[in-house]
Amino acid sequence: MASKDYIQQNQDKFIEELLELLRIPSVSADPKFKEDVLKAAEYVKNSLAQAGADKVEICPTPGYPVVYGEKIIDPALPTVLVYGHYDVQPADPYELWESAPFEPVIKKTDLHPEGAIFARGSADDKGQFFMHVKAFEAMMAEGDLTCNVKFMIEGEEEVGSDNLANFIKENKEKLQSDVVLISDTSMLSLETPSVTVGLRGLAYMQVEVTGPNRDLHSGTYGGAVANPINILCKIIAQLQDEDKRITVPGFYDKVEELSAEYRKKLNEAPFDLHDYKRKLAIKEVEGEAGFTTLERTGIRPTLDVNGIWGGYIGEGAKTVLPSKAYAKISMRLVPHQDHHEISELFQQHFESLAPDSVKVKVTPHHGGKPAVVPTSSVGYKAAEAAVQEVFGKKAIPTREGGSVPITSLFQEELKLDPILLGFGLDTDAIHSPNEHYGVKNYLLGIETIAAFFKHFRKLSQK
Ligand code: BES
Ligand code: MN
Ligand code: MN
Repeated sequence: MASKDYIQQNQDKFIEELLELLRIPSVSADPKFKEDVLKAAEYVKNSLAQAGADKVEICPTPGYPVVYGEKIIDPALPTVLVYGHYDVQPADPYELWESAPFEPVIKKTDLHPEGAIFARGSADDKGQFFMHVKAFEAMMAEGDLTCNVKFMIEGEEEVGSDNLANFIKENKEKLQSDVVLISDTSMLSLETPSVTVGLRGLAYMQVEVTGPNRDLHSGTYGGAVANPINILCKIIAQLQDEDKRITVPGFYDKVEELSAEYRKKLNEAPFDLHDYKRKLAIKEVEGEAGFTTLERTGIRPTLDVNGIWGGYIGEGAKTVLPSKAYAKISMRLVPHQDHHEISELFQQHFESLAPDSVKVKVTPHHGGKPAVVPTSSVGYKAAEAAVQEVFGKKAIPTREGGSVPITSLFQEELKLDPILLGFGLDTDAIHSPNEHYGVKNYLLGIETIAAFFKHFRKLSQK
């Protein structure tokens, strides 16, 4: 029997085990869930050990630990390093979930007639990295593991992977491999499989605008003293011009203008704007003038307010001229833009827009580098072959808008090109209420990963 049959025969078990992992609320952003995050690490460790990894350990970091496991069948054979994250985003707002975020249920949807698993982390990233554990289990059980494998599953991706750079630097030898395989991205659809070849970077800022030294009566003082919320809104409005271009001076200096040929190719990916709008219940899309939706999310940088608060937001009305206003602002970056530099430019610009009637404070949060992955590597060819084998179609290379900052770290520190072989869909509602992951995506993903190992071994033989 080959691993493919093992996967088919163990479908129910594979799903059940994922559901168990999804029941652990491993929210890294909220200290309230600390014990659960550690419990998830423990679960990952045990599942790796049960699948047949030799060396399995929970490696402490100043934050949440990295789970490491390996199976070296022959040091002369190629080695695949698998990366994923067992932490998840907060589930808030809970009231918008149709079923509890940490009580997974399988429901059929239009896009998933065979069912999808609804739970926080189902697609991002528990359901995705767990495919690797299960593919490994299947290959071990059937004796067709063809490459060495190392697992590195972290617990701080959703909070910026602050400790991962050090972990990689300190464990270069241990992590030495021939390719990094990551499933933490989307594919176009099950009918049009794709492999991600680009991810955006990120610069995340918090801003604080302070007006008077205390909240004021909006009748007594209103009209005479600057209202920090009004000012904050005005500043934010000035951060983009009429063409939705970001006004921060120098922001576009390093942005690569891609050739007409490249852009044409990018736009050949199947994309239905009408369907896109319908699924989001919007009448029109909006973005930088002169670029298509695929370009706006794939190759262009952005600026978005992620949250804004201040003043009175309780029941009823309270007349108040608040002392402070706040916002969280993120910028998605494209290759060559440096998040430290962009944060700096943003800070200067934001401060320059503030009138003397208020004080502003800009605090950079985490950032991350963009990444582009070549399609000429052995790893990419193996991914292409695996997709061809399982889906019967040639994978389309795509650039995605999200960020996995660790991607560029693997390139810089380990000199490895990561293969972004994700099986989620854009509609999986990651980071949103009702996140879900198609059962079929999960099972075909496991098969494709097993096929990747086979092809990587074959293509690595010179
Ligand atoms: N898996 C996502 C990144 C992603 C999402 C890639 C969709 C491609 C398509 C990852 O877990 C994530 O959410 N990353 C954060 C950045 C991080 C520094 C918090 C993001 O993109 O916002
Ligand atoms: Mn993720
Ligand atoms: Mn995420």
